[in-house]
Amino acid sequence: MKNYLSPSILAADFWNLGEQIRAAERGGASYLHVDVMDGVFVPSISFGMPVLEALKRKTTLLLDVHLMIVEPGRYIETMASMGADLINFHLEAASDPISVIKKIRSLGKKVGITIKPATPVSALDPYLELVDMVLIMTVEPGFGGQSLMPDCLDKVRQLRQKVTEMGLALDIEVDGGVKESNLDMVLDAGANVIVAGSAIFGGNPEERTRIFVEKMEARE
Ligand code: DX5
Ligand code: ZN
Repeated sequence: MKNYLSPSILAADFWNLGEQIRAAERGGASYLHVDVMDGVFVPSISFGMPVLEALKRKTTLLLDVHLMIVEPGRYIETMASMGADLINFHLEAASDPISVIKKIRSLGKKVGITIKPATPVSALDPYLELVDMVLIMTVEPGFGGQSLMPDCLDKVRQLRQKVTEMGLALDIEVDGGVKESNLDMVLDAGANVIVAGSAIFGGNPEERTRIFVEKMEARE
């Protein structure tokens, strides 16, 4: 299975955002993770439509939008028109997940469904055949720079086994606390799309990206 790195700009230096993204591109990133927070579903507020639109104008990286907002169905058209290529929404935030999935699909975008650390893999059962990706949070959503919760990797293992048995080639993304030191563990568990924020932008983003991408490609 192909592995993809999705650097999270939440940890970037916003003064130099464009240059930081160029550095991730030069390092070989394929996705760019964009964390949209509303201050309600999660305590913090990050950024939204204008930032997404600005990114879309200048980068060819696949824009991986992680919606941490209540009732995400309200913003799907807007996110799609601003340039989201993949839209991840939280199962816990949606009163009608199927309609959100259908809306994303009808706009021709990739669909991801996301679960928080306390949500079991079994809660995904009704949706597994309808989505392109499951995003398993390995920290409580809301902030960068936290430590990965190792218990959440059991959920990644469980889900990879389940989807393999079902014959689905689903992408499994992991978000939260991924570092060079635990990357192998995360890939071993069955994830193939890796979000990393502070591990990339906390250092030289080009070098950090290259290190991650090389490790990930070696394991395909
Ligand atoms: C947290 C966000 C993450 C965050 C990851 O709510 O969803 O994408 O940016 O940051 P690190 O890699 O620093 O844990
Ligand atoms: Zn995220």
